[in-house]
Amino acid sequence: MVNRKFVMITGSTSGLGFELAKLFANDGYDVAMSGSSEDIYQSAKEIEKLGVEAYPFKADASTYDDVEEFWKFVKSKDRKLDSAVLNVGIGMGGSFLENDLQEELKLIDINISGTVHMAKRVVQDMVPNKEGDILIVSSVSATLPTPYETVYGPSKAFGFMFAESLREELKETGVNVTAMLPGATNTSFHHNAGMDSTYFGDEKNKNNKELVAQQGYEALKNELDHVVCGDEATKKEAEENKQTPEEVKAAKHAEKAKPNQ
Ligand SMILES: NC(=O)c1ccc[n+]([C@@H]2O[C@H](COP(=O)([O-])OP(=O)(O)OC[C@H]3O[C@@H](n4cnc5c(N)ncnc54)[C@H](OP(=O)(O)O)[C@@H]3O)[C@@H](O)[C@H]2O)c1
Repeated sequence: MVNRKFVMITGSTSGLGFELAKLFANDGYDVAMSGSSEDIYQSAKEIEKLGVEAYPFKADASTYDDVEEFWKFVKSKDRKLDSAVLNVGIGMGGSFLENDLQEELKLIDINISGTVHMAKRVVQDMVPNKEGDILIVSSVSATLPTPYETVYGPSKAFGFMFAESLREELKETGVNVTAMLPGATNTSFHHNAGMDSTYFGDEKNKNNKELVAQQGYEALKNELDHVVCGDEATKKEAEENKQTPEEVKAAKHAEKAKPNQ
């Protein structure tokens, strides 16, 4: 019988998911990890160097079947699930007028449908145990309109309010839900979203991924409802967003996210 705790983290091949996997592993958790590329197997080997078991699974989070298959894989380990990190998410820059509809619907499948799907499985698994931690990775983008990321930002606003809603519903069950809202962070996210030619393509405008992951991890451990992750400027911006009119925030974001011709 294994004594170590057990966490599952979606989208943990690289980026924030991988950083979070390291933090859990350093605290002695075994980690079930998913990603859509073959690199997930190498990433799991890196996590195992930290002295825990890592279970990699290749699954495309944009499809119902693969989300379900990853969940079955987690359950096949026959372990109590202590924590779940619903991290997987993709971005998409460019103009709504020109962007491809199928790509936008894929973003919604991953960021919204996939999150709801996995949350359903996790919640129904944890509540009978009367304990568990769920970290849902949203974004500072949830606090403003995001022109030139017009589908992405609202998908993260969904994640934020979904997490806060679930938290309230589950508050008597022993299961904690925390939303993590990173500011722009130095992973491959903006490159993958086709945003290299924007303000967000410049590394100096981004937060450090280790810092961001650490703040999210600590917020989960302290059972906060949500946490803005990043430097002081990021936290200040999120605070100011509560008072700033939507049109003002939209214009400011458009300047940063509009592709340079
Ligand atoms: N970076 C930022 O500036 C930022 C800011 C706020 C919020 N966030 C949020 O943080 C989360 C993680 O983003 P990140 O910055 O770490 O992004 P990233 O560097 O692009 O990493 C994305 C991760 O998701 C996996 N992935 C991508 N498509 C997938 C798919 N279809 N199915 C399964 N896994 C998939 C990737 O693994 P594979 O390569 O193996 O598919 C990788 O592990 C996202 O929810 C994002 O919205 C990021």
